[in-house]
Amino acid sequence: MQMQPLPAPKAGETWPADARYLEVSMVRKSFHGVTVMEGMNFRMARGELVSLLGPSGCGKTTLLRVIAGLMSPDSGDVVLGGRNITQIPAHRRNISVVFQNYALFPHLNVAENVAFGLKARGDTADLQGRVAEALDLVRMQAFADKSVTGLSGGQQQRVAVARALVVRPDLLLLDEPFSALDRKLRETMQVELKSLLRDRGITAIFVTHDQEEALGVSDRIAVMNAGRIEQFADPSTLYARPETPFVMDFVGLSLRLRGRVVDQRGGTCVIDTAEGRITARADLGVGAMAVVGVRPELVRAGAVGDAAPDRNLITPVLEDAMVLGSKTILHARATEGDRVICELSGIRQGFSRGDRVTLDWAVADTLAYEVAP
Ligand SMILES: Nc1ncnc2c1ncn2[C@@H]1O[C@H](COP(=O)(O)OP(=O)(O)OP(=O)(O)O)[C@@H](O)[C@H]1O
Ligand SMILES: [Mg+2]
Repeated sequence: MQMQPLPAPKAGETWPADARYLEVSMVRKSFHGVTVMEGMNFRMARGELVSLLGPSGCGKTTLLRVIAGLMSPDSGDVVLGGRNITQIPAHRRNISVVFQNYALFPHLNVAENVAFGLKARGDTADLQGRVAEALDLVRMQAFADKSVTGLSGGQQQRVAVARALVVRPDLLLLDEPFSALDRKLRETMQVELKSLLRDRGITAIFVTHDQEEALGVSDRIAVMNAGRIEQFADPSTLYARPETPFVMDFVGLSLRLRGRVVDQRGGTCVIDTAEGRITARADLGVGAMAVVGVRPELVRAGAVGDAAPDRNLITPVLEDAMVLGSKTILHARATEGDRVICELSGIRQGFSRGDRVTLDWAVADTLAYEVAP
């Protein structure tokens, strides 16, 4: 079959040079005549841990199912390890999937659950040794002959991961595997999973709609919105240089103001907002509507005086100061659709509601996007 050539990475995308292990090209998928995904291109390198991050209904599970072969695309190709697997049925792809609800067999014990996939394939050489090794990886060996129904959520999830890994998959797909777990356990499982996959060099795609989870576990993150990838980059690039206002808002918090571009020269523009004029390094057309933003921990509070030429300065009225211990968050009154926040490290006192506060931040840290009027 003739392969569609992959497009070059867009600005803001960072692809490892060898990102050719999994290639999804020009995938289109519709349900009952409604297209939910079109022109989907996605590629990753062997050994990478990539997250699909996006709001509910954006197509994360659909993309995962197409890759796993649980759903066939209307058009497009999936190539794994140089082999076009688009027409290969799921059970012959050597791709393991871990679902949110574990899907363990209640009538089988822990070891039998893990052995299930191997037996189904007729791959029974050293069955016990391989099951023991997989259980060891997730630190569940002591539970081998226990019933799965008596296990906690975290333990069940470990068994599900062992069952997925025991077949030595070419690719591991995890669809919101920790969403049923409480926050503390989730964090433990994230750390465990990340080091397990790293140590074993397993290539995996991790679906989540939790941005902190994605930032914490991934080598790279594909931020999805309405069936498209908005940006595909490593966590720090995504956070520091979001390509679109959607990515800026979805990944992390930000101070965010809407306005109109009133001046632009030499790659620097001035945007007139409800809080005053904001300068940003961006090429936006004069007259265009824009959104400007800055990460709240890059905003300083309280330095009175005129703005330095390379800094933006606003003086909003404080609405609330939340002392959270490791940080203090200032919220200022803002026009609807705008958000004025500042994050200071540690416990900071002396800010009260109704005070006018001076906030300033570097022009270089200011994000700016043209938006539809
Ligand atoms: N079997 C199906 N039949 C009809 N529509 C579907 C089907 N599966 C998915 N869709 C639609 O496709 C779109 C993408 O769904 P998908 O399940 O991939 O989203 P998601 O990103 O995984 O969301 P969530 O975070 O809620 O799991 C949605 O609009 C959904 O309603
Ligand atoms: Mg889903």
